[in-house]
Amino acid sequence: MGHPLLRQVAAPAVVGSPELHALVADMDDTMRALSGAGLAAPQIGVSLRVVIFELKDNPRYPHVAPVPYTALVNPVLTVLGEEQEEGWEGCLSVPGLRGLVPRYRRLRYQGFTPDGASIDRTVEGFHARVVQHEVDHLDGILYPQRIRDLRSFGFEDALAGQMTPLPD
Ligand code: NI
Repeated sequence: MGHPLLRQVAAPAVVGSPELHALVADMDDTMRALSGAGLAAPQIGVSLRVVIFELKDNPRYPHVAPVPYTALVNPVLTVLGEEQEEGWEGCLSVPGLRGLVPRYRRLRYQGFTPDGASIDRTVEGFHARVVQHEVDHLDGILYPQRIRDLRSFGFEDALAGQMTPLPD
């Protein structure tokens, strides 16, 4: 947090290139090494519109329905309905902290795999939340900017026991 790259709007990526596959491999390694649920390319210093996410048996996010591993290039989000819900989020670029963030409950996302195949999904709950969090990174937005009440923002260890399980 504070690095200029994390405040920039990232550029579209070219699908199918060796460089993109290498970038996604680096992102996979980083996300898994840090037990993240998602990662955006600007977080490893590359200002391109590429995000990855996955959730299965993640110690940082217990009690949450699994999300299949996805590498999503040049994503476009369409919010479905006005309904929002609050959930606790963390971010590998804001280590040690968690905050309560409102997100749209349902959305459609479209984009491409690194090979150029189309992705078009309608999702809700945590899956929709992680996509909104990661795509925010591509527009230079970190989750603390979305917190409505800064009393619901703090250190993970201090908040332990106060964070209700994330809705799925
Ligand atoms: Ni993040």
